[in-house]
Amino acid sequence: MWNVSGVRPLAPLGAALLAACAGNGAGLDANGQPIGAGGAPPPPLTADFKSIQDDILTPICTHCHSGAAAPEGLELDAAHSYALLVGVPSNEDPGRLRVKPGSPDASYLVLKLEGSPGIVGAQMPFGAPALPQATIDVVRQWITNGAPPAATGSTAAVGSAAVASPDSTSFAVTAISPRDHSRLSGPPPRQIVVAFSHEVDASLLNETTLRLEIVAADGAPPVALSARLAEGNPSVVLLTPQRALGPGGYRLILRGSGGGGLADVNAQSLDVDYRSEFTVQGAP
Ligand code: HEC
Repeated sequence: MWNVSGVRPLAPLGAALLAACAGNGAGLDANGQPIGAGGAPPPPLTADFKSIQDDILTPICTHCHSGAAAPEGLELDAAHSYALLVGVPSNEDPGRLRVKPGSPDASYLVLKLEGSPGIVGAQMPFGAPALPQATIDVVRQWITNGAPPAATGSTAAVGSAAVASPDSTSFAVTAISPRDHSRLSGPPPRQIVVAFSHEVDASLLNETTLRLEIVAADGAPPVALSARLAEGNPSVVLLTPQRALGPGGYRLILRGSGGGGLADVNAQSLDVDYRSEFTVQGAP
């Protein structure tokens, strides 16, 4: 769900989510031990993204944060988490980045895990015991270190886990949020996140290479977008519509083929045009 502001039906929503999540191990660490029971992090946890993914995000967060209906559009499975966390604004508090490389205190992810007074909504993991501070401190350390991607590349190469070396592959789109064909209930998305297999040439981000069309209104001007690279995460492009997206269908077009399209920093062009559609259903 995408929330912009205002009233959020927290209690009923939480109850429904908890019911949906019951009995599948939420709140357990990688060894099946309850998180929060002891003061120490689970033994394998280290301050690199692969460990954070395997020991925290996958076992504890993906019960809720996966798929097209992930809360706040935040998918935390290994194929999406890095692209949607690092340098990407929070949907609840767009003035803050989910992860601000080098600055754990300014990272909304940390604030949500610690239940800081400034957060919107609940402490994470939702409805479960808070993570031990020692576990959160490992996340903090990873952010202090600059929030680098997983060393092996498999976690960072979103959607293309079979790829051995990212640089040997073609320049391609690896993830888009909101997902293709998703139907978004509640308030419209504030941002569209597009992840690529390589670092993007920011000088090619413009109204020709990136367009957001209104599906039902052929011939209408596209929705104006501002585009920039995510801070510290230059293979991710953040697109911000310059006006709130009303209910209806939207089609994102990323220009690749035919010259004048998007390219990576080594001037390798996007192989094809990408199209992705989503529907804003509006508040129920
Ligand atoms: C039981 C379901 C559930 C679990 C498990 C869960 N979350 Fe959430 N999360 C939500 C819901 C619902 C929201 C939106 C409402 C709120 O923030 O209270 C949310 C919001 C968030 C946000 C804010 C995103 C934004 O863009 O503003 C972050 C960050 C977050 N969760 C991180 C986590 C992390 C990290 C974990 C695992 C440690 C986790 N969540 C586990 C349900 C869950």
